[in-house]
Amino acid sequence: MYLGSWLSRLSRGLSRPIGKTTQPVWGSLSRSLTLGAQRIPEFSSFVARTNTCGELRSSHLGQEVTLCGWIQYRRLESVSQLRSGSSVGSAASVKKILCEAPLESVVKVTGTVISRPPGQENSKMPTGEIEIRVKTAELLNACKKLPFEIKDFMKKTEALRLQYRYLDLRSFQMQYNLRLRSQIVMRMREYLCNLHGFVDVETPTLFKRTPGGAKEFLVPSREPGKFYSLPQSPQQFKQLLMVGGLDRYFQVARCYRDEGSRPDRQPEFTQIDIEMSFVDQTGIQRLIEGLLQYSWPDDKDPVEIPFPSMTFAEALATYGTDKPDIRFGMKIVDISDVFRNTEIRFLQDALAKPQGTVKAICVPEGAKYLRKQDIAFIRDFATQHFSQEVLPVFLNAKRNWSSPFAKFIMEEERLELSRLMEIQEDDMVLLTAGEHEKACSLLGKLRLQCADLLEMRGVVLRDPALFSFLWVVDFPLFVTKEESPTELESAHHPFTAPNPSDIYLLYTEPEKVRGQHYDLVLNGSEIGGGSIRIHDAQLQRYILATLLKEDVKLLSHLLQALDYGAPPHGGIALGLDRLLCLVTGAPSIRDVIAFPKSYRGHDLMSSAPDSVPPEELKPYHIQVTWPADSEEENAAATPSKNLSS
Ligand code: AMO
Repeated sequence: MYLGSWLSRLSRGLSRPIGKTTQPVWGSLSRSLTLGAQRIPEFSSFVARTNTCGELRSSHLGQEVTLCGWIQYRRLESVSQLRSGSSVGSAASVKKILCEAPLESVVKVTGTVISRPPGQENSKMPTGEIEIRVKTAELLNACKKLPFEIKDFMKKTEALRLQYRYLDLRSFQMQYNLRLRSQIVMRMREYLCNLHGFVDVETPTLFKRTPGGAKEFLVPSREPGKFYSLPQSPQQFKQLLMVGGLDRYFQVARCYRDEGSRPDRQPEFTQIDIEMSFVDQTGIQRLIEGLLQYSWPDDKDPVEIPFPSMTFAEALATYGTDKPDIRFGMKIVDISDVFRNTEIRFLQDALAKPQGTVKAICVPEGAKYLRKQDIAFIRDFATQHFSQEVLPVFLNAKRNWSSPFAKFIMEEERLELSRLMEIQEDDMVLLTAGEHEKACSLLGKLRLQCADLLEMRGVVLRDPALFSFLWVVDFPLFVTKEESPTELESAHHPFTAPNPSDIYLLYTEPEKVRGQHYDLVLNGSEIGGGSIRIHDAQLQRYILATLLKEDVKLLSHLLQALDYGAPPHGGIALGLDRLLCLVTGAPSIRDVIAFPKSYRGHDLMSSAPDSVPPEELKPYHIQVTWPADSEEENAAATPSKNLSS
């Protein structure tokens, strides 16, 4: 019989072999803390127990203890082992409570710390040398039949986990993830506020809509036709704090974006939000490197700084994306010159166009591991999503070339291709043709798909214990809108300052202007983004009104503020959920958030969003009109679609 409490779940959780070692992350959490001159009492001074279930060791032998916690898997998992011995007077009642109470019931026990009988020690458990000879036991709360077993290895659907999140949180993995999250944030706070003079400022979450960017959630107000917006990020506030002389701002900030859930995206998420006055791009980058190094869990390999840096143009040309995973090669190579005189029709056609290129990636051991159906899938993907043709070329073990087009690839083309792409026996080359950006984007996607396929077959390309940070810099300030290619939108956000050497282009060829925008990428995931800001109101107004065609009235407060002596400033926001997801190796950011939304943005535990009776909508001057074909039942279950005010 074992007894577990939150601290014992923690001590087991934090010492899980997620990283390279199995040491607890930051030592004992039950130690006392010192704040200023005051000594903060031991944790146990506040509660009706003498110790936590995970802290007892052989040094406690002979001590009388009181423990509270949940009854856990008998003889299966760790924590404090209880023994209801026959020599104790109340043994029968103790046994009854401890053996008959359902698992996960909450009990309080008193007893003596004793050594485990010889041969029954468990060296894998921190508490494995001792057990408690129980004298009294009290059932504090019995647990009903559980909807699932808490044990991590019992597979359960994510929907069920989210519906009973409070039970799912008892799992070792969730305990580990949330406690690690808290530790990392604590270290970040320490680094920023105590070591670097940052001020932690809370900013409003009821705000006004902002032009551009992600879709915002609206909050009705009691004024007819007036809505608040939930901020996508505290971007405007942090800039206004610089105008307000705060100099160095930091916040663990809640952000809201109505853009649907993905494994790395939530409608409600958290940023480590930072802004500084009188700083340049390098200053922000060095700060963040120091911050991550300082707050990095001790059981992982230390973060090496400075991080490498790559321009956006190089990232796109080499990896086909602005967030390259640089843990493995398979880089994109421009092989246009190899095929200048080719007889292969689709390559010929592409190269005849002014922007035409031929590009390829070399998939190591692709000829050995990728199957016919994999290649068919890759080619279908290219046609369906990119309207592009992909040509596979294999170099077999006996250095034979094979491809649907093999006979059209000349000997000198083969030699040149081998040289440029360093093709080895058993490798496969995937080749495509077309305009630079499109060809690179496609190959960037195929590079990741091939990595997935190879890893499915046992070839390890992306070491999960390796953390490869990368700065991506020199983004264009603007990109063309997908739905309307003649219009521009900001690559980051409209407050990003142009690169000083490109300012003259703002008035002639704005699409060529580079922004002072930097992204931080970790293992192929964008974990942060920021920029140096425009602090000149006139330039900001020109970019908003003339180039982005935005309604400047929406930002008149910011424009006005810039005119009152705004200092040069810049900042960044780290996506805390994404960072934690990568650090813990979780499959989704939902696993590092206590109460996340489902894929469809729902809270499966409380069933939010929920419908609201018409009389409660009246004060907001809102009436819900259901689509004509919707059934009443659907209507009750689905949140409002049409809001008229
Ligand atoms: P940006 O929009 O790049 O910049 O966001 C910064 C980081 O936040 C994380 N992130 C998300 N995480 C989870 N779910 C989401 N839906 C989501 N969207 C973004 C990413 C991203 O890199 N105000 C600017 C920052 C600045 O300029 O200082 C901003 O929000 O990891």
